[in-house]
Amino acid sequence: MKPVVLSFPDDAGLAGSVSRELQARLGSLEWRHFPDGESLLRIEETLAGADVVVFASLDGADRKALPLRFVADTARELGARSVGLAAPYLAYMRQDARFRPGEAIAARVFARFLEQSVDWLVTVDPHLHRIAALEDLYRIPVACVESAPELAEWIRREVRDPVLIGPDEESAQWVADIAGAARIPYQVLHKQRRGDRQVEVSAPDPERLRDATPVLVDDIVSTGRTLIAAAEHLRRLGLPPPVCVVIHPLFSDNAHELLKRAGVERIVSTDSIRHPSNGIGLARPIARAVAGQLAKIERGTEP
Ligand code: R5P
Repeated sequence: MKPVVLSFPDDAGLAGSVSRELQARLGSLEWRHFPDGESLLRIEETLAGADVVVFASLDGADRKALPLRFVADTARELGARSVGLAAPYLAYMRQDARFRPGEAIAARVFARFLEQSVDWLVTVDPHLHRIAALEDLYRIPVACVESAPELAEWIRREVRDPVLIGPDEESAQWVADIAGAARIPYQVLHKQRRGDRQVEVSAPDPERLRDATPVLVDDIVSTGRTLIAAAEHLRRLGLPPPVCVVIHPLFSDNAHELLKRAGVERIVSTDSIRHPSNGIGLARPIARAVAGQLAKIERGTEP
């Protein structure tokens, strides 16, 4: 029996491509709001015995989490054999510690919530910092898609003489992978965050950038302040305007506009979150990872 993909509205494009790669059935999921804001979810599919893939990138997780749970539980009630989650962006991974007394360690609480909702999880480059691996946090099968090969290919194709720049120490992990895959040099800056919208980064080594195109790479852009601070540094050093490559384009409020105005040449992101800057498609690697999880379910039910 073909697996059934149930996509949240924002993710319909990517979910459709992943379904085609998987040769899965793209089911119909209705999500509407009552006048008071409560959600009504409806699955218009026959799910008896099916393996269901709920497709929901978890930007805006506070809004989507409960509907996600409604869909997963309803899919089971309608007879699904298994229910997994493809969440290209996995929320709350940055809140992986109690930075001030009394704060919720949301990464942990959210992991417990998702584990209680679905049987497996596929995501793309989760923000791993103090937690070394997603398997250390989740007690269900998880698979992390690495976007580095797709990013590397795009940079090699689109940018002349690129040098990658990671804006902070945390970015070293994916910047090194992308630089390795694209066989190009890279630098990692030092960042100090003094508030949600106050960010300072150290200056890059200008000598290595003189005749190159700087490519700023970050896993998440939220307020845009990290990339803006880095771009401003490059401008002060008289270097060419950078290309910005982003894995998860959260872009809160007017962050995209502010970053464009900071003197960058181009901003491109993966389609892990739907956004006008999307230019790097991840359907194939996500489909491969989902197929891997579905194969495990199949093996687990073999006599
Ligand atoms: C943090 O460590 C992440 O890797 C990003 O650098 C950060 O989330 C970017 O946030 P913002 O766009 O608000 O500066």
